[in-house]
Amino acid sequence: MNHFLDLHTTDAGELRQIIDHARAIKTAREGRPRGTPDDEQALAGRMVALIFEKPSTRTRVSFDVGVRQMGGQTMVLSGQDMQLGHGETIADTARVLSRYVDLIMIRTFDEAVLHEMADAASVPVINGLTDNSHPCQIMADIMTFEEHRGPIKGKKVVWTGDGNNVCASFLHAAGQFGFDLTFAGPMQLDPDPKAVGFARDHGSSIVIERDPMRAVEGADLIVADTWVSMHDAQSARERRHNMLRAYQVNDALMAAAGDKALFMHCLPAHRGEEVTSSVMDGPQSVIFDEAENRLHAQKAVMRWCLGL
Ligand code: CP
Ligand code: NVA
Repeated sequence: MNHFLDLHTTDAGELRQIIDHARAIKTAREGRPRGTPDDEQALAGRMVALIFEKPSTRTRVSFDVGVRQMGGQTMVLSGQDMQLGHGETIADTARVLSRYVDLIMIRTFDEAVLHEMADAASVPVINGLTDNSHPCQIMADIMTFEEHRGPIKGKKVVWTGDGNNVCASFLHAAGQFGFDLTFAGPMQLDPDPKAVGFARDHGSSIVIERDPMRAVEGADLIVADTWVSMHDAQSARERRHNMLRAYQVNDALMAAAGDKALFMHCLPAHRGEEVTSSVMDGPQSVIFDEAENRLHAQKAVMRWCLGL
């Protein structure tokens, strides 16, 4: 049994195998009607708990559909509706759930909650986003990049805006998959220094660049995310917008990058804020492929967790 907690704590060779398996899972479904189950009913008879302490559209639906297509069943739980939200410890919740279900996916705030859940659970635990990371998203993003451009190794990824949880997972992925990353954002919102250190220690070139036009020169991929994450105080909204406005991904920035650069956004996006609609809907954007690939990548993650 394997937990899927973060990209920097999972073996790089196994991450590569998960991506390759996701590709094979996707190919096996090609041309099949949407509602039909997978040929391989890998999760037949298994129950998966999906716990959300924050809102979600993609993570919730892609995990739920993925489990069902593999023949398993899901239980979607909101943290507030559980005793977890009313004082029961995370460890006790993990021990109890482990008696009922075969796999737990949790989206929460502090990553300490995820680790406490994993330490106490006797079934695999998957990180469905914390304040600190979003590994499932980046597995789908690597898969998507490689579908369009081939191996990501040696490529230049430019992260624009806030050095947040999704950025941290991109930095972990840079170290594990061997690509370089330029961070284009304000000093106040620099990425997690531990994630930067991890990528550099694993041989990636990580550049911090305050000028967005210079940052995107020679980019293979430009990534944006919301300027105000779910864990950020709403009171910081105006201050963040003022700091981040110069880093909007728009037609001028895409032109400075050139035609080979893809555009990604984990979604939900705020059109007209971190990215314009012209870029979201433009020829270099692969945002809906990314969203679709959450389904395929997470199927491979769940099977890896369960050794299937
Ligand atoms: N990208 C992503 O995780 O989206 P949701 O918040 O809708 O799950
Ligand atoms: N950084 C965003 C990602 C949402 C999928 C957040 O944490 O709210």
